[in-house]
This record gives sequence, structure tokens and C-alpha cells, in this order.
Amino acid sequence: MWLVDVGDQLLLTAVGRTPLVRLEKVVPEGCGAVWLKLESGNPTGSYKDRMAVSVLCRAIERGDVAPGDRVVEYTGGSTGTSLAFVAARLGLGFVAVSSDAFAKEKLQSMRAYGAEVIIEASEDGAITPDLIARIRSRAMELVDEGCWYADQFGSPDVLLGYEPMGAEIAEQSGGAVDVICAGVGTGGALMGAVGGLEAAGVRPAVVALEPAQSPLLTTGVGGPHQVEGIGVGFEPPFLDRARCAEIRTVDQVRAMDMCRRLAAEEGLFCGSSTGLNVCAAIELAREYGPGSTVVTLGPDNGLKYLAGGLFGR
Ligand SMILES: Cc1ncc(COP(=O)(O)O)c(C=O)c1O
Repeated sequence: MWLVDVGDQLLLTAVGRTPLVRLEKVVPEGCGAVWLKLESGNPTGSYKDRMAVSVLCRAIERGDVAPGDRVVEYTGGSTGTSLAFVAARLGLGFVAVSSDAFAKEKLQSMRAYGAEVIIEASEDGAITPDLIARIRSRAMELVDEGCWYADQFGSPDVLLGYEPMGAEIAEQSGGAVDVICAGVGTGGALMGAVGGLEAAGVRPAVVALEPAQSPLLTTGVGGPHQVEGIGVGFEPPFLDRARCAEIRTVDQVRAMDMCRRLAAEEGLFCGSSTGLNVCAAIELAREYGPGSTVVTLGPDNGLKYLAGGLFGR
């Protein structure tokens, strides 16, 4: 057991063991089965809790940080909220470098967990490669000033944090997974899950996804888009292209529409990247046909997006 003994860990062990839900109403006839790994039940409502527990507990275990130290990350808010939650449990300080381009609820959540949140201004709320570069360089300045860098884009502990998600999918599906698809930010969740599936002897086709409005991975040219958490404007560090059968794009308008349908028709209240993932999973289930099984990830909870345009005002 690698969880360090820093008092009550009950809340941290509540991370993971999420349901795998079969989608019914939004999947047309003639398709294979589509299953959604519903990660909204994690303590902060996001699968990022898995990486935060892995990164911070392992760092404490190695002696890289100790209670009272300050951790920094640049983040759209989901990772930051998870790091803020786990840091608060472990007695670490946390500084998030973020932007007003991301959901206000995420910024508020980080502050609620006691994080210091530094905001870089965006142009009209758009997530652009330039904005990501700016928040990154601000975070690096804080590292120079003595903060410990959680490194969501490079730490091997990120992948290790997501492996149990793959192991859970293997167990919950009985090992019958033909395809797994998901949008990639760092690529950690998808590739970590694939690692966990493979360790359990399951080798599905892997399809990575990005917003059609920012087709950097498929065409080399990124752009502004509104699907928070993915399409970060550079090659996802954990994305193993050699392991991917394909990378495909999904239109963000369809993704948002699917999000609303998931809530109203399936009772699954999720964020925009979940809508994007489900659009692609349905496409793949149609292509692979009846009898096939496609699994996708539901990274977070729709509650975080109530103030934005996704669910109306
Ligand atoms: C809502 C949401 N979806 C998807 C992702 C992508 O996950 P990963 O960075 O593991 O590729 C993120 C990452 O921040 C996210 O916040």
C-alpha cells in the first residue's frame, strides 16, 4: 500500500471505484454497446482526483514534499481542484496558476479548498496556445521561487494514478472491450487506463480525441475551442501515438448537445469533454457494429459548468 500515513486517509481512499454505465437512449439502433466510465462520483467530481492522490501521496512518500510545503501547478481548474483537495487533506499548500477562460466554478472550488489562485487574463474567454504558454511560464516562475511542481504534464505518477481506472474497467466489463476512446489533454487518463487494461490482459483498440475546432493532433494546427480540459495546444505528453489505432476530431457543438442529452435522457450530468467522448464512442460503436463494446470516459460532473453556456443560464 503506497498511501502514506498522514492521519485520516478515508477520504483519499474514496477516490476511484466509479461505476461503468451502459448508455441506452443516446445510442442509435445498429450500434455496438457504449459504456461510460462515470468519474463524476469522485470527491471533487472529476477523474483528476486519481492523479492528485497518486502525485501528492507518492511525493510525500519519497520525501519530495512535506506538510507545510507549497505545491504549484498550471491548470484549467479540474486538476487544480483535485490537487487543492488532496493538498488540503495532506496539509500541503497549493498555488494554482489558471485563467478566466476556465469555468468560474472551478476557480472558486480551488479557492474553497484553500488554494491560492493566480489568474492570467484570456482574450474573450478563449483557450488558446498562447494563454496556456503564459500560465505555464508563470507557474515556472513560482517553481524558481521554491514551490514544488506537481507536473501534471510530465510526472510518471500521473499515469500510475489512472491505471486503477483501467483495472476497474477490465473487471466491470468482464474484459470484453473492443475499443476505448477519450479526449486528451495530457493524455494521462486515456493512456493510464490503457495501461491498467493491458495489465489485466485486455488490449482494446485505442482512439484519442480532440475538438474539431482545434485539430492540432490530426492536422498540426490548433485553435480556440471551448471543450475544457482537452485540446491544450501542444502534443499531449502522455499520448503514445504508436498505441493508438487512430486520432479523430469531434465537433464541439455536437459535444455540447450530447452533454445536454446525457443529462436529460440518460440522467448523467457531465462536463463538455464527456459529451465529446460519447459522440466519438457512438460513432465507433456504429463502425464496429452490433456485438462490439466501446468504452469511453466521463471525466467530470456537469455541476461545474452551470454558469457557462453549456446548460443555459
Ligand atoms: C474535464 C476534462 N476532461 C478531459 C481532460 C483530459 O484528461 P487528460 O489530461 O488526462 O488527458 C481533462 C484534463 O484536465 C479535463 O479537465
